[in-house]
Amino acid sequence: MTQPTFSENVVTVLGTQWGDEGKGKLIDILSDKFEVIARATGGANAGHTIYIKDPENPGEKKKFIFHLVPSGMLNKNTVCVIGNGVVLHIPTMLEELDFLSENNISTHERLLISDRAHLVFEYHKIIDGLQEEMKGKSKVGTTKRGIGPCYTDKIRRNGIRVHDLYDFDKFEQKYLENLAMFKKMYGKFKHDEKAELASIKEMAKRIKPMIIDSAYYLNTAIQEGKKVLVEGANGALLDIDHGTYPFVTSSNATIGGVVTGTGIGARHINQVIGIMKAYTTRVGAGPFPTELEDSVGQMLRDNGGEYGSTTGRPRRCGWFDAVVGKYSTTINGLTDINLTKLDVLSGVETLKIATHYKYMGEYLKSFPSCLETLAEVEIEYIEMPGWKEDLSKIREFSDLPKNAQVYVEKIEELIDCKVTSIGVGVEREDIIFK
Ligand code: GDP
Ligand code: IMO
Ligand code: MG
Repeated sequence: MTQPTFSENVVTVLGTQWGDEGKGKLIDILSDKFEVIARATGGANAGHTIYIKDPENPGEKKKFIFHLVPSGMLNKNTVCVIGNGVVLHIPTMLEELDFLSENNISTHERLLISDRAHLVFEYHKIIDGLQEEMKGKSKVGTTKRGIGPCYTDKIRRNGIRVHDLYDFDKFEQKYLENLAMFKKMYGKFKHDEKAELASIKEMAKRIKPMIIDSAYYLNTAIQEGKKVLVEGANGALLDIDHGTYPFVTSSNATIGGVVTGTGIGARHINQVIGIMKAYTTRVGAGPFPTELEDSVGQMLRDNGGEYGSTTGRPRRCGWFDAVVGKYSTTINGLTDINLTKLDVLSGVETLKIATHYKYMGEYLKSFPSCLETLAEVEIEYIEMPGWKEDLSKIREFSDLPKNAQVYVEKIEELIDCKVTSIGVGVEREDIIFK
């Protein structure tokens, strides 16, 4: 099997469905080909899982879940950057760094944080919960990590950014003003501001050496010929503009978020790898046209370990949706697909792929904006014979069962993008480069 080489300076990895497609695993696999790995958007709503061989227990795997720290951190030769588009919860990030250190992975001078990234506080999390309660039946099913309220502050222009930590008196003033505003908006809620301010003051000492002007840093690195890998978060259908609004997150999980969330000039981004699960999952509320609420859905959940990396919630599971795949390929300008979790489909007798949506008797050209339309679409499926073999040890495309090869080629045809790698298990080695 030949590992890919990257002639482009900036490569991006993006989620193309409703998140949890397996972005973390590919970032980790590719990280040794890049000097810099940068997160562009989202916050601790993301959960990127990586399994590596446990050096202390041969035959065992060690699991890492990154919410904020870029997934390139396991590769000791990389420098990782938290970009300006990320909303940063400092305690979560420090916990991740500590976990890495406990596992003998040096983080010293390896993590840099944008001075323009916005900070998430405990009150954002509380408000996230309150807003969900207020929405009642139409709640989004957020991760309650304060993501929406923090991005709202950013857009409302009362957000607090990483560089504000340099002048703690002013920081404290802004923080308390915001809190007072929220109490006016939401009524009194329990929150220990003294404790949070004291702990941020302490943590600020630790993170100050990591703060940089990340757009300058990344563009300089590119000018110097360094290779940069940008790690997307969430997924295209969770994108605030292009997703199933309002059942979305609060940032741009598509290619635009990479540009604004890092400050890297768009012309440098030449390769955009979309991570696409060989079936579909979604966690949280909102439309899911190919959802399976039967024993096949349960089998996918069991075999794929489909439980949220951030909240532990069971993920909803369904058939591969080529309408979604084509849509996210188009809006992201994908150059490659990493089709993940093909191994999970082993044992499904007949596989189905959604190929078209029909509304009032007419084929829709793309993914509809209106959720009422989406709820009424008639979905056209094709059926394909499955396979029974275990795929996890296969490393060459030609060694896959014929039906699995045909399934992959059908997906390529339907979404009009080449599948250049295929995931067949959770570990670094469990990948086929096509
Ligand atoms: P991310 O948020 O896109 O990084 O994805 P998550 O980590 O939330 O969820 C993907 C899950 O699938 C993780 O538990 C991965 O270890 C696992 N995974 C990734 N690729 C594969 C694959 O090809 N096969 C199997 N069986 N599991 C995979
Ligand atoms: P990764 O990067 C899966 C979903 C939440 C909820 C909606 C809004 O691991 O793929 P938020 O807390 O962002 O306000 O929640 O978006 N969501 C994700 N689902 N994977 C993610 O990230 C997600 N990030 C947000 O479940 O439905
Ligand atoms: Mg995830």
